[in-house]
Amino acid sequence: MSQDASHDSPTQNLRRLVYYSRNRVTGAPAAMNETIRGILAVSRANNARVGVTGALMFNAGCFAQVLEGPGEAVESTFERIQQDERHGEVSLLAFEAVETRLFTEWSMAFVGASQADAARYGDLAGESGFDLSRMTGDKLCAVLHGLALEEEAAAA
Ligand SMILES: Cc1cc2nc3c(=O)[nH]c(=O)nc-3n(C[C@H](O)[C@H](O)[C@H](O)COP(=O)(O)O)c2cc1C
Repeated sequence: MSQDASHDSPTQNLRRLVYYSRNRVTGAPAAMNETIRGILAVSRANNARVGVTGALMFNAGCFAQVLEGPGEAVESTFERIQQDERHGEVSLLAFEAVETRLFTEWSMAFVGASQADAARYGDLAGESGFDLSRMTGDKLCAVLHGLALEEEAAAA
């Protein structure tokens, strides 16, 4: 059954999950872009079907993702994602009950790919390219949400 993220009921078991992982996609930039495009296309189709929304950031050797929606849908989506060999060392930062979604408009926003974002993300990830370990789920989620809003405004 298809679900509409704009019609969440307050009694629904809404959950938000935040993780980061190490990117294992290798190859020339064009091939990597193609891989990311594929992940996004599948994610958007699957997530829309089960009422999951969120954002994915990819840069500097890692992924960071927020998934939100009905608890079972978020869990089963994350189970699949964890088994994906295109990334590894998946670290869960948050999995919690929430009252409202942050990413209502996005079945999976893609953020952080622009030059400006890359510079800001570089600060977050640290010079090593992979130091999200000290980030809290709330902070990472806020960063992704800010980037999604900015990219939406820039595209308008
Ligand atoms: C970093 C990353 C994020 C992903 N995010 C999602 C997602 O939000 N939703 C989803 O369905 N699949 C996501 N995937 C893809 C899944 O791992 C898996 O390949 C896909 O769900 C399989 O879908 P299919 O059975 O329809 O082919 C992601 C993969 C990676 C590497």
